[in-house]
Amino acid sequence: MRRYSRITGTGSYLPPRRLTNADLVAELAAQGVETSDEWIVERTGIRARHFAAPGVYSSDLGAEAAKNALAAAGVDAKDIDLIIVATSTPDMVFPSTAAILQHKLGIAGCPVFDVQAVCSGFVYALTVADAMIQTGSASKALVIGAEVFSRILDFKDRTTCVLFGDGAGAVVLEASDTPGLLSSDLHADGKHVGILCVPGHVSGGKVLGDPLLKMDGQAVFKLAVGVLEDAARAALAKAGKTEADIDWLVPHQANIRIMQSTAKRLKLPMSKVVVTVDQHGNTSAASIPLALDSAVRAGQVKKGETLMLEGVGGGFTWGAVLLTL
Ligand code: UT7
Repeated sequence: MRRYSRITGTGSYLPPRRLTNADLVAELAAQGVETSDEWIVERTGIRARHFAAPGVYSSDLGAEAAKNALAAAGVDAKDIDLIIVATSTPDMVFPSTAAILQHKLGIAGCPVFDVQAVCSGFVYALTVADAMIQTGSASKALVIGAEVFSRILDFKDRTTCVLFGDGAGAVVLEASDTPGLLSSDLHADGKHVGILCVPGHVSGGKVLGDPLLKMDGQAVFKLAVGVLEDAARAALAKAGKTEADIDWLVPHQANIRIMQSTAKRLKLPMSKVVVTVDQHGNTSAASIPLALDSAVRAGQVKKGETLMLEGVGGGFTWGAVLLTL
């Protein structure tokens, strides 16, 4: 009998400090940076985001999300045999955030590693975990997206600092006789490294280069819209499905206009799109599992429904995963 992987529980965690646009606009104005609630809402759909307190790391947010996912799945942490963390804001250069998180869950022994594909990180990590479950390398995996993007924002650059937030989302992915993950389609094109990056690096005991996020928003926007449609269509084709089979689109939450455009291209009404960007901002690799868990807990997305998850981000990376919940 073929072995599949299936999501059996979802969880998420947001740090308690919530800043509305008005809060952020006031903080930025005090530093001489001019922006407005109107601009942010109109261009992005974002109304609020959460920022982690000093000393709180991706592993802390990810561990809380993981505990919530384990509880939802009814799985004991000690039975987890694989942890993959998607993050671009790791706690340290090394070891992996997954290793630190594993210890925070009070477990040891299972393989753990990070996936670095920026905002596409969660669909990449889910694809890797699915492959490891299908081949018998794992049976009960934790797949987590966790980020503290507030640490890499340049609060003097209004074109980027209003867009991002902190948070984490997680799923428990278990071996199953019936299909959960149906197909996946992943891509990257390294020639676009410069349009979205944090160019700094550690060398000789110093940070060399700028350790803050740089983005050419318009270039990212144009690329994103096209590739997201292509990846979604490729994932559908691989599973022998069509747009009509999609119950919910759960996209990376970067900008409401990108989501509207992708939905239109896939002939999906916005009522079938899970939207949390208004409340979370762009939480990079955490945004898809955060959106998924929010929709599951709100009773919006239900077991048995077919979901298209898709992400796009720095690298340039992009991809989609089609699954039955
Ligand atoms: O997660 C990874 C994926 N990232 C993304 O998906 C981001 C994709 N890109 C975007 O979401 C959009 O390009 C942005 C939201 C970043 C920008 O929206 P836009 O419609 O492309 O605006 P723009 O860059 O063309 O800027 C329009 C104007 C400019 O002023 P001028 O030159 O027309 O006078 C900017 O200086 O808006 C100005 N502006 C702002 N004004 C007030 C830029 N940022 C701000 C701001 N507040 N925060």
